[in-house]
Amino acid sequence: MTQVYLHPEISDYFVEYDFGEVLRSPADGGPDDLRRKVMQDYVGEKCILLRNVRIDYDRDFVSSVNFPPTWFFKKFPSKVVERDKPLGKSEAKQEICRDLFGGDAGLFHKFESEVRAVNSGIRRALDEILRHHRIEATDIIWRHTETRVENLHFDIDKDSAEFESVRLYLNMDDIPRIWHTSHELGRILPAYYEELGLGALRGQPLEKLLQALSLRLFGNWASRGREQFPRHMVLFEPGDVWICDGRTVPHQVIYGRRVASSFYRLDVGALPAWHPSLASKVEAVHAAEAAGAAGASQGLKGYAYPFEPGGPRPPPGVRHPDLKNDWDRLYEESIQPRLVRL
Ligand SMILES: [Fe+2]
Repeated sequence: MTQVYLHPEISDYFVEYDFGEVLRSPADGGPDDLRRKVMQDYVGEKCILLRNVRIDYDRDFVSSVNFPPTWFFKKFPSKVVERDKPLGKSEAKQEICRDLFGGDAGLFHKFESEVRAVNSGIRRALDEILRHHRIEATDIIWRHTETRVENLHFDIDKDSAEFESVRLYLNMDDIPRIWHTSHELGRILPAYYEELGLGALRGQPLEKLLQALSLRLFGNWASRGREQFPRHMVLFEPGDVWICDGRTVPHQVIYGRRVASSFYRLDVGALPAWHPSLASKVEAVHAAEAAGAAGASQGLKGYAYPFEPGGPRPPPGVRHPDLKNDWDRLYEESIQPRLVRL
């Protein structure tokens, strides 16, 4: 069972559903339809734990596959492996076969069938929950390399107002995946609206607003681990399945290996009436602020901005390399047998 260390100043937005009950509920889109309730919770900025989603696969085999700590395998787009194109005709598959199995086609074929088993289990759950939506894209990312201490952030999807993204996670490891999460967007946005001059971002791409909030309030890669914002601490146990909208629930991985996560995209033109898009919710805040919403924003006091005087800084002399180009080196540095100050 998931463990949550709740911060007293942050809402307790964790909810759980038994997937069997979801399946048994009437699929009519009415108020008793648990598919609708799950998605309303998703829109309502909750972190939703799904219990008893059965996803059968050969965990021992998958655990034995050593994913090199490269930028490509950091967020491995598993669809490449799912495609029907046979190994002999797919350059992309051959490359993966070389990187993961030293060219052993037998092991690659076993891996291919395990990827399909896991992904179809994830898709079964999502297709059920999203029965009242029109799904436009069904990507599933495998992150089977170590992740250590990300910066706290809102997820930034390119052109994010064009679709609604849905992220479902499956912890495939035999240790917990540890996250921090903070105040929901619905609380942060009005609280910092004036202070951060967010009105200037009205009419601009939605992801710009999310990026500005992430940077100004939580900092960036160089200031990670020194965030001043209050955070819940969550330990997602092996086998846990959860859905959480990273665009509205700020989060950071503290430590994790071996997770699969969906990046589903929903048609914003075909959302059920009970599902307002994030873009429309944000626009409603802009409109209310422009109309002089009651209570000028004052922030959620007590937390220094990362890039202002008094904000948290790395120790003197620490240089942070270019994330993408130096990723392999960064990883190696982190496992040197000596103290590493970050
Ligand atoms: Fe994220």
